[in-house]
Amino acid sequence: MTATVTSTSAQPALSGITFPDGFIWGAATASYQIEGAVQEDGRGPSIWDTFSRTPGRVHAGHTGDVACDHYHRYVEDVALMADLGLASYRYSIAWPRIQPDGGGPVNSRGLDFYDRLTDELLGKGIDPVVTLYHWDLPQVLEDRGGWPNRETALAFAEYAQIVHGRLGDRVKTWTTLNEPWCSAYLGYGSGRHAPGRQDPAATFAAVHHLLLGHGLAAQALRAAGANTISITLNPSVVFPVDPENVADREAVRILDGLSNRMFLDPLLKGQYPADMLEHMARFTDLSYIQDGDLATISEPIDVLGINFYQPSYVAAKPGAPAALDQPGSEGIATRAPQGPVTDMNWLIEPSGLTHLLKRIHADYPGTPLMITENGAAYPEVPAADGEVHDAKRIEYLDGHLRACHDALAAGVDLRGYFVWSLMDNFEWAEGYAKRFGIVHVDYRTQERVLKDSAKWYREVIRRNGIEG
Ligand code: FCB
Repeated sequence: MTATVTSTSAQPALSGITFPDGFIWGAATASYQIEGAVQEDGRGPSIWDTFSRTPGRVHAGHTGDVACDHYHRYVEDVALMADLGLASYRYSIAWPRIQPDGGGPVNSRGLDFYDRLTDELLGKGIDPVVTLYHWDLPQVLEDRGGWPNRETALAFAEYAQIVHGRLGDRVKTWTTLNEPWCSAYLGYGSGRHAPGRQDPAATFAAVHHLLLGHGLAAQALRAAGANTISITLNPSVVFPVDPENVADREAVRILDGLSNRMFLDPLLKGQYPADMLEHMARFTDLSYIQDGDLATISEPIDVLGINFYQPSYVAAKPGAPAALDQPGSEGIATRAPQGPVTDMNWLIEPSGLTHLLKRIHADYPGTPLMITENGAAYPEVPAADGEVHDAKRIEYLDGHLRACHDALAAGVDLRGYFVWSLMDNFEWAEGYAKRFGIVHVDYRTQERVLKDSAKWYREVIRRNGIEG
């Protein structure tokens, strides 16, 4: 019997692309996800220490206690970055290392670590991009009410000043917050993230105080002479399942409001959207929004950081309960991904990124944009040949870089791209089960191995583009 070989439909060869001169190529990480050393050199506990040690909160009881042991291996890790040719590295500062008590006395040994790391980066010609808050709130501040409490915003501005005081002579780019939507809606809405509360009123108060903290910190950084000030958001790309259906479009309005306009409008237009004020008033009297707050929140920024992973499709579904992470979203259903997904079950649709960049450019003109995170989880580990063959990650990154290029061609002011993540790490509620790195980490030996995607990315950086 002879087998008939039918050719699969021919794939058109993708053409090469080149990015503008000076386009910034980077990689990103976050303190709690990689550092470990949670009790070292005077660090205090954060909400993620408490959360991850609470049974049932994080996959398999994983914690960030050791993580990638980056606290001790940063020299080796910076050497990896240099080997990849990174122009920039986005890392975050652990607030509980700097102020273990959430305020007051400064723990200089905590600052010393970031001092050494920053110098190591600069010594290798890598530009440091600092995020001041990537979710590891000092536990004492949560004990006093956390982000729903105005005091946390004031404390954050003080902390920002302290870090700038130590690193400001060398760090040019300062990002205040990473993804305040997650801090507020996952931390205080669904409880999927630390501190694990489920309270719609607290969620919206947290949004406001995160934004206020950003504004106060931005003002303090500006006054101290910071060069480039930014915030990183994770805007959601929400499409209606049926664009012709009025109720589906109404569902989009609500989710776009909760995920996007709730943050972008105060930051870049100095006001909350009228429909979102009404929406929030269902849960809270809004008395925490004080005179002058919106002027503070809309302190001009120099760059807006965008994290993008997947778009979503939503439809009206009468009777559906509200998603806990989107208070007031009853009657709305998010469609399960249709099409290829990553190991997170996140839909792969790079054109969503082009759509998002064009939308922000059009609706909030004048602010340069930066992709501060984009990447994919896939499970590959070293094969028999010792290499990590992660072709699907390469395909994901390739598609999304082309999507960035399309946005540039459409006139979007996009300045750079940071892959998430430099290395496999503690993926929050998923623990170590999901691997986002372009560098593989063996958590038993802490050995790092460049995946095929890291070698591919090195080539992209070298060419400032993708080969045809
Ligand atoms: C983002 C986070 C980042 C990482 C990626 C996968 O929401 O900012 O720390 O967990 O998702």
